[in-house]
Amino acid sequence: AGKRTFTMIKPDAVEAGNSGAIIKMIEEAGFKIVAMKKTKMTPGVAGKFYAVHSERPFYDDLKNYMSSGPIIPMILEKSNAVEDFRKLIGATNPKEAAEGTIRRLFAASIEANAIHGSDSDENAEIESSFFFSELERF
Ligand code: CMP
Repeated sequence: AGKRTFTMIKPDAVEAGNSGAIIKMIEEAGFKIVAMKKTKMTPGVAGKFYAVHSERPFYDDLKNYMSSGPIIPMILEKSNAVEDFRKLIGATNPKEAAEGTIRRLFAASIEANAIHGSDSDENAEIESSFFFSELERF
């Protein structure tokens, strides 16, 4: 399995002041931060990032929500990164997320679900490249 995954702390969690606690959980779970920044997407940029969901009924809401405030994108490194990170964050819907997961602890709803995690090695690289150049990866 690949060594890197991509994540972003979403606007609800940044706004609530939970980014520090979330980053602490990520590091304590053994992930190294390869790249990190704080930025804000426009609805157009969010639409591009989530283009795979363009036919979904929640696409317009998702673009508005993901551009509603700053986000913290990161590239993370660990053995089996993609799978282990998805275990750490829990199910998309916080009501279905396991006890102790980041979404169970910090997510407000299925849409405002605190954090993103890539679903494959291939998407991890595509999503990492969306936000970070090679010069920003350490
Ligand atoms: P994520 O898995 O990071 O990427 C797709 C996002 O779309 C997801 O997190 C949620 O923020 C949002 N999403 C997924 N399913 C729904 C849904 N049924 N209703 C609203 N938003 C959703």
